[in-house]
Amino acid sequence: MLADRINLCKIINFPVVADYRGNLTFIEENRHVPFEIKRVYYLYDVPTGAVRGGHAHINLEQVIIALSGSFEVVIDDGYKRKSVFLNRPHYGLYIPPGIWRELVNFSSNSVALVLASMPYDEKDYIRDYEKFRKMVREGFWDESDKRVAEKISRL
Ligand code: TYD
Repeated sequence: MLADRINLCKIINFPVVADYRGNLTFIEENRHVPFEIKRVYYLYDVPTGAVRGGHAHINLEQVIIALSGSFEVVIDDGYKRKSVFLNRPHYGLYIPPGIWRELVNFSSNSVALVLASMPYDEKDYIRDYEKFRKMVREGFWDESDKRVAEKISRL
């Protein structure tokens, strides 16, 4: 198993085209994010104190962007946990398969945009933290982690 799987989560800095009319950011699949984008969803009107996420994925890769406002993404690789604060729309947090995540501390009017590598499939979710930890300990994501490490080195 990789030591620090959590380092497979990466902040991506997307292009910004800035001129006197304002800023423009664009994202192309397999270029600015390391997968084909199969689904986009967004969280908005999140009440103060609400916690979103609270799961890991078997195969899904995602990039989470604070399109507006701010929030924190707590990521957990089964051993280590850290919090990533997102507050600018040109940054995205890449999360590979096999990472537990929770989205917390949403500011008012925040919008969390999520780019996902697969259509919605409840079977891809692990919603039980102890089950997730057991799968990490058993090396469930070892092969996936190697592929992810290789492709994010090219980002
Ligand atoms: P949920 O997974 O609880 O959201 P999050 O974990 O990101 O806070 O999803 C809430 C509901 O929405 C759940 O019934 C599944 C449904 N859903 C879809 O139908 N399609 C989707 O793409 C997503 C992300 C959720």
